Amino acid sequence: MSVRLAPSILSADFAALGDAVRTVERGGADQIHLDVMDGHFVPNLTIGPAIVKAVRRVTSLPLDVHLMVTDPDACLDAFAEAGANAITVHVEVLPHLNRTLGAIRKLGCRAGVAINPSTPPEALNEVLEDLDVVLVMSVNPGFGGQSFIPHSESKIQRVRQMLDARRSRADLSVDGGVDRTTLPRVVRAGATVLVAGAAIFGTPDPEQTTRDLRALAQQAAGAQSRS
Ligand code: DX5
Ligand code: ZN
Repeated sequence: MSVRLAPSILSADFAALGDAVRTVERGGADQIHLDVMDGHFVPNLTIGPAIVKAVRRVTSLPLDVHLMVTDPDACLDAFAEAGANAITVHVEVLPHLNRTLGAIRKLGCRAGVAINPSTPPEALNEVLEDLDVVLVMSVNPGFGGQSFIPHSESKIQRVRQMLDARRSRADLSVDGGVDRTTLPRVVRAGATVLVAGAAIFGTPDPEQTTRDLRALAQQAAGAQSRS
């Protein structure tokens, strides 16, 4: 099983964002995770399409846009145009999720669905064939640097079982509190994409930390496939 590391720029220095992205790219990051918050779905405001477009100019890595907004349908075009490769929306705000996922794919992006800690994996049952990424939130969304919610581990296992039962090749991404300690557990539970913000940008050498976390992820995935 191959696992990928997606540094979240939420914890980077926004005054030197280009440098932050290049730094983790040098460290072997597989994709860049960008957190969009509207101050409504979550109690924080972050970035919009202009910043995604700016990041697009400094890297060729896939850009993974996580929309923590109440009305994602209204901004899909803008983020696709800004250069997103994947757009992830929250099931909690979408009564017509199937239509939204279709719209994301039609824009040429991979379609992702995120579930909050209080949302059961079964919420994804009817759309498993229509998505490319399942993102399990392992903290309540809104801020970087929070602690991993332990219960998330069994939830990741349940999502892994659901995907395997449908022979789905969708990514299983885990977002929130992923660090040296939780990362191996998350990989063993079945995650294929690890999002990490504070555990990378909160260290003195984010390039080396990216390299270390990626190696740790490969090691955990290797141990998993041998067991
Ligand atoms: C939280 C965001 C995360 C955040 C993770 O709402 O969706 O992507 O950046 O940050 P860490 O890794 O610091 O928990
Ligand atoms: Zn995120």
